[in-house]
Amino acid sequence: MSRRTVEASLENPARAAAPAFTLRAPSTEDGAAIWELVRRCKPLDENSCYAYLLLCEHFSGTSVVAEKDGEIAGFVSAYIPPRKSDIVFVWQVAVDDSARGMGLAGAMLENVIGRPACAGVRYMETTVSPGNVASETLFRKFAARRGAACDEKTLFTRSHFGSAAHEDEVLFRIGPLIGNGESGTRKRQGQHFEGEP
Ligand SMILES: CC(C)(COP(=O)(O)OP(=O)(O)OC[C@H]1O[C@@H](n2cnc3c(N)ncnc32)[C@H](O)[C@@H]1OP(=O)(O)O)[C@@H](O)C(=O)NCCC(=O)NCCS
Repeated sequence: MSRRTVEASLENPARAAAPAFTLRAPSTEDGAAIWELVRRCKPLDENSCYAYLLLCEHFSGTSVVAEKDGEIAGFVSAYIPPRKSDIVFVWQVAVDDSARGMGLAGAMLENVIGRPACAGVRYMETTVSPGNVASETLFRKFAARRGAACDEKTLFTRSHFGSAAHEDEVLFRIGPLIGNGESGTRKRQGQHFEGEP
């Protein structure tokens, strides 16, 4: 199982005081805790516990949990869509309220893109609800750090959701991620990683 310890960014005093989190691939033992975390992280869609167990079973190679003192404080679900081997699609990003503002979500995205399963990935895609400033900023900053473009266009409109009363979902397409999969590209300035993905 992949494990990596991420410490705080030195650029931001709040991050410099941040505790270390272990970033690793999720297992089915984490499914229920991930489900609880997502339910705490509004406005994320609440899916069934079974859905998270399936993610842990089938997409652990591209998903990540952040753990500290045995508690799961962060989660990213992601997968490589069928017949689109150069794309990793990020579905949900969740960071417990107590762990926000420390760079954890950004570090989890870096962890995903650095995985062996993502060696052939050149684009990261996700969808964001308009007005989710934290999410918009997270992905735009990821693109900026990588020197990549971030193209944004509506993928699913309200009408696609029928009676579900859901906002539009805007597709963010980040890339090309030049040099992804080559050694050394995973280290970010101001962060310290231990272990390999
Ligand atoms: C969005 C979320 C995952 C961010 O987690 P986080 O660990 O606090 O994010 P980071 O610390 O890695 O921040 C990444 C960047 O976004 C910015 N950011 C984070 N939260 C922000 C907010 N509320 N408003 C504006 N910018 C914000 C940070 O400043 C940072 O930019 P920087 O690197 O220039 O400092 C977290 O707030 C969350 O779980 N929200 C609820 C669920 C959600 O909306 N998920 C995203 C949709 S999939």
